[in-house]
Amino acid sequence: MTAYDIVDHTYDVVVVGAGGAGLRATLGAAQAGLRTANITKVFPTRSHTVAAQGGISAALGNMMEDDWRWHMYDTVKGSDWLGDQDSIEYLCRNAPESVYELEHFGVPFSRTEEGKIYQRAFGGMTSNFGEGIVQRTCAAADRTGHAILHTLYGQSLRYNAEFYIEYFVLDLIMEEGECRGVMAWCLDDGSIHRFRAKRTILATGGYGRAYFSCTSAHTCTGDGNAMVLRAGLPLQDMEFVQFHPTGIYGAGVLITEGSRGEGGYLVNSEGERFMERYAPSAKDLASRDVVSRSMTIEIREGRGVGPKKDHIYLHLDHLDPKVLAERLPGISESARIFAGVDVTKEPIPVLPTVHYNMGGIPTNYHGEVLTKVDGDPDAVVPGLMAIGEAACVSVHGANRLGSNSLIDLVVFGRAAGLRAAEKIVPGETQADLSKEAGQDAIARLDKFRNAKGGTPTAELRARMQDVMQNNCAVFRTGDVLEEGTKLIADVFAGVPDISVADDGMIWNSDLMETLEFDNLISQAVVTVNSAVNRQESRGAHAREDFPDRDDDEWMKHTLSWIDNDTGDVTIDYRPVHAYTMSNDVQYIPPKARVY
Ligand code: FUM
Repeated sequence: MTAYDIVDHTYDVVVVGAGGAGLRATLGAAQAGLRTANITKVFPTRSHTVAAQGGISAALGNMMEDDWRWHMYDTVKGSDWLGDQDSIEYLCRNAPESVYELEHFGVPFSRTEEGKIYQRAFGGMTSNFGEGIVQRTCAAADRTGHAILHTLYGQSLRYNAEFYIEYFVLDLIMEEGECRGVMAWCLDDGSIHRFRAKRTILATGGYGRAYFSCTSAHTCTGDGNAMVLRAGLPLQDMEFVQFHPTGIYGAGVLITEGSRGEGGYLVNSEGERFMERYAPSAKDLASRDVVSRSMTIEIREGRGVGPKKDHIYLHLDHLDPKVLAERLPGISESARIFAGVDVTKEPIPVLPTVHYNMGGIPTNYHGEVLTKVDGDPDAVVPGLMAIGEAACVSVHGANRLGSNSLIDLVVFGRAAGLRAAEKIVPGETQADLSKEAGQDAIARLDKFRNAKGGTPTAELRARMQDVMQNNCAVFRTGDVLEEGTKLIADVFAGVPDISVADDGMIWNSDLMETLEFDNLISQAVVTVNSAVNRQESRGAHAREDFPDRDDDEWMKHTLSWIDNDTGDVTIDYRPVHAYTMSNDVQYIPPKARVY
């Protein structure tokens, strides 16, 4: 193995990732006087949160009456009863305060005539426990993530957090079951760094890039999830992958659900507003799983639009051009660039596209990572925390409601900062790391750096993305998923034959993409195996061979571990928290689904 010089660092808290969750946690920890480092593989304001469009949910009641309990009910129901109700209560109760905090930090929200934060309608957000539609999604036009990300980065700098920008974290440093920090590679000068910390907070986002067509940035490779798997810890509920109904046909680029919140609607080749048939009351604002499945059925039954009848039209051309310019400028531009469409005159061609991973690293609502030990399903992994899309806290359960992602980022980013402040004394002495600390991470880097097999990374990645797109899609059957487990195992088995052409250490994108692919493939394997295992339909997991939700057998979280050498997957379960923090509200699933 090549010898590498190592640069050592010690912090109270190390946050990996600088999207909305990572920045909010960084800010919170730094504000509490903890010596805080943020390590990020991209410049903070290029993190994928920047792409979030439609808004951030919170029961502010600016447009009409609202209540955090109604928000909680919608989120529990939207999760198809798989969400943990204590976490959901924490989310919805703390949402208004977290949004006001953002406002005071300087987020430039759109405004009502009276100067209040503007809120729009989003799918599944209702008033009075499902009675009517409520406008709960706070928006900065259709660039809400962009506005939040830039503001949080500025605030983090104000509190002296130290940023390691364009550093790629290779792996966790685990000693006797405790996380002691991370190893990282500086992409710019090729140096290797060892970070020791009392708490490591993973805010590394989702793994949408395991699929061929997704709204996720190329950087969304679930690096933290893969580190957790390599540490011998489980991921949770990986079978639940959300398809956003309106990705631009062919490009996958997101057209916000906020466009339907402003009055847009979907039509089939017969010009029919078909959502009126599938969800008579919520119509185009039914939850995403329902809309994506309805669109897929329309296409399958021959009512798709276009020469191949393989997509659907989204109409915004009936809306006031002033509303489009003020509230939806970003998607108007995307539609022009990626579909050649003038939204004031023509419909946008759209198709369901992978958008979000409900599954991830199991945590409690403080952001502490959980595993199952000796029958205890809620055992905390010392030193390790996770937040944002990387985490499965689990507020989204089997299906996330639109605009509940941005609020998840800031509420649980804030919670993680508070927890770190509660548990750590600033500057507290830390035990020495062992001499071998970080050597496994370096060995893995070195293995890929010198990989001289016969298969380019791009070829394996394309095979993985095809399998996921074809064998783990909107609708699933046992046979197709079984085939998927075999095909994805073949791709996994191809990793030892990988070839990396460039063995340099400075801006070696070939090596970095190989490490990212290696991260993706383990998540792809556990995703397909978790999907074939769950024999029911729930939220985004729609099994045609098991069309009903089965609460008696399956109201439980899937835990999945991978053997990193063989790719074999082990599955176990955690109970859903069907209790709340305060027990003053509790939601029980109805026997049949009602939309
Ligand atoms: O449609 C959107 O604007 C996406 C929002 C979300 O995923 O929360």
